[in-house]
Amino acid sequence: MSTPGSDHGHPDAPGDVSPAPASPPTPVAAGVELHYRCALPAEASTVADLVNSAYRGALARLGWTTEADLLDGQRTDADEVGGLIGREGVCFLLAEDEWGVVGSVLLQRGSDGQAQLGMFVVQPGWQGLGIGKRLMEAAERLVREAWGCDRLSLTVISRRRELIAFYERRGYRSTGEVMPFPASPRGGVPRVAGLALLRMEKRWPA
Ligand SMILES: CC(C)(COP(=O)(O)OP(=O)(O)OC[C@H]1O[C@@H](n2cnc3c(N)ncnc32)[C@H](O)[C@@H]1OP(=O)(O)O)[C@@H](O)C(=O)NCCC(=O)NCCS
Repeated sequence: MSTPGSDHGHPDAPGDVSPAPASPPTPVAAGVELHYRCALPAEASTVADLVNSAYRGALARLGWTTEADLLDGQRTDADEVGGLIGREGVCFLLAEDEWGVVGSVLLQRGSDGQAQLGMFVVQPGWQGLGIGKRLMEAAERLVREAWGCDRLSLTVISRRRELIAFYERRGYRSTGEVMPFPASPRGGVPRVAGLALLRMEKRWPA
């Protein structure tokens, strides 16, 4: 599969990756150039650490939206991420700037023109600077242009209204499908009862 390149469409060469510092050097230019590529198998631990730091725990509270009040435990681990990276039709799309990896999103190609998005994160301390929006645009380019998909879906905890609004501003709509949160030691242990996942989807004209 071709690499997704940069915001300006230049191809990137895969290579060793290191996480960016916990907070961006100041002042951060919101317009800093980002490069996008799929994570390599050797980067599973780096990706898992980034995902866990953004979703749960004290570090996650640095961001404007977090699950830290809703769930305990990890979101994933290196074994799960490594298993996914090795699969056909899977890409952990990384956003890198000159300091290292600042964001990641899991993309999985399904059947019949649809793809799924998950584990969408920007490093805590780097959130709210527009990186998430740019990473999502790069993800959409990949699924549309490299995979030929016309739909991208995701699930979000139904009580995370600010995050649902973020996705709605990007063109995602509720499908009406709501399912119980799948609690597990690997994926998260609820701190509150009755957590549910809402499916949202964006469609493009075929
Ligand atoms: C969700 C996430 C990836 C977004 O990345 P980001 O870099 O912070 O997002 P951006 O800076 O590109 O966009 C932030 C948007 O939220 C808005 N925002 C910022 N602070 C906000 C707040 N306190 N409340 C509501 N909206 C807020 C911004 O105005 C901007 O909105 P816009 O669409 O009008 O431009 C990131 O916050 C993250 O890693 N969160 C933790 C992990 C997570 O919850 N992932 C999603 C699971 S489904």
